[in-house]
Amino acid sequence: MSTRPQLTIDGLILELLSLGQISEAEPPVVTRVVFSEADMRARGYVKSLCASAGLTIQEDAIGNTFARWQGRDPELAPVGTGSHIDAIPNAGLYDGCVGVLGGLEAIRVLQKLGYKPRRSIELVIFTSEEPTRFGIGCLGSRMMANVISPKQALALRDKEGRGLEELRAQAGFKGSLESVMLPKGRFHQFVELHIEQGPLLEEQGIDLGLVTHIAAPASLRILIEGEGGHAGARLMPGRKDALAAAAELILALEAAAKSTGVIDTVGTVGVCEVFPGAVNSIPSRVRLETDVRDIDGARRDSVLDTLRRACSDVAASRGVTITTELVNADPPATCDPEIVSTMEAAAAEAGKTYKKMVSRAYHDSLFMARIAPVAMLFIPCRGGVSHRPDEYASPEWIGSGINVLARTLVKLAE
Ligand code: GLV
Ligand code: MN
Ligand code: MN
Repeated sequence: MSTRPQLTIDGLILELLSLGQISEAEPPVVTRVVFSEADMRARGYVKSLCASAGLTIQEDAIGNTFARWQGRDPELAPVGTGSHIDAIPNAGLYDGCVGVLGGLEAIRVLQKLGYKPRRSIELVIFTSEEPTRFGIGCLGSRMMANVISPKQALALRDKEGRGLEELRAQAGFKGSLESVMLPKGRFHQFVELHIEQGPLLEEQGIDLGLVTHIAAPASLRILIEGEGGHAGARLMPGRKDALAAAAELILALEAAAKSTGVIDTVGTVGVCEVFPGAVNSIPSRVRLETDVRDIDGARRDSVLDTLRRACSDVAASRGVTITTELVNADPPATCDPEIVSTMEAAAAEAGKTYKKMVSRAYHDSLFMARIAPVAMLFIPCRGGVSHRPDEYASPEWIGSGINVLARTLVKLAE
């Protein structure tokens, strides 16, 4: 495409800010847990924007949303783009939302240019990319790719013990969970625009990251059961303090992740629930949720093994009971070289600088890669900050991403 897309970036930034106002927390803090009232309002807002752009909207049985711009040949499998609008507690405006509203903006820019794609272009808004409610990330795309079966999905519970069946019904989504699964070929190709969530592009002054691989995430849930009691009257000898045991495991995970000697291995304990949670009561039960990632799946698994061994050792030395549950251990994904070359050509055409890079965060593209050729386009974010309220991507960065996404979609849709 030779004509330069005219970006209406001011309008898009206003839309991003408006979406950010829809939050369970006081804005500018964004918290939008899947199927919460805020999530449902945010979905409504984005769907209204899609409808105004003339897109045809369909939702599946768990609320994955497909907004289609009909192509010249509607029989052909569409090119997909999109991301998520759910947000972890205490998040910012850009994670996921740049890919959804940016994808929509790319479509609107192309419409304004009078372009009509051969293949339809479908904007996808995935349900529950974030693991906040169900403890497992990318639930929507995971189910689309049949990486998690309907039976396994039905067994998921949130902190209040509510399951997918109850929550999706409350949100108004019905139909068989089997129907969420998509066959290979349903999408011709899929491209996700996202903020980098790391510092490299900004540090190096590069406009765009062309993602070649997505790192392998895993999560192990750990339940430690000790013995509670009075914090004053119960003396130190013979205590079975579940939180003291947890502390050892948290440090064991940190040490295991560092011990690979490779910068790509990371391990985090992001959830630590203490029961009964009273200052004058010895913790009798602790639940940890751990997150381990690497670009090398085997090395990631060796860290998980070390953590499991630490669980046995700590259980023996402290006389507590420790059980573990592997929530997920996903392989890394490789992006499609042809789409990456297409993005390269699009970036060159737009006069943007770029580098090939690995995504250390996971994304719905990790699972879309099971059913379609995928790639991801990263834009910088200030200081590499993400999953925090001060997450920021400048209008220029977002504009570059949309410009190159639009050009890429044109090439893929022909
Ligand atoms: C996605 O939000 C991730 O945690 O990588
Ligand atoms: Mn995220
Ligand atoms: Mn994201």
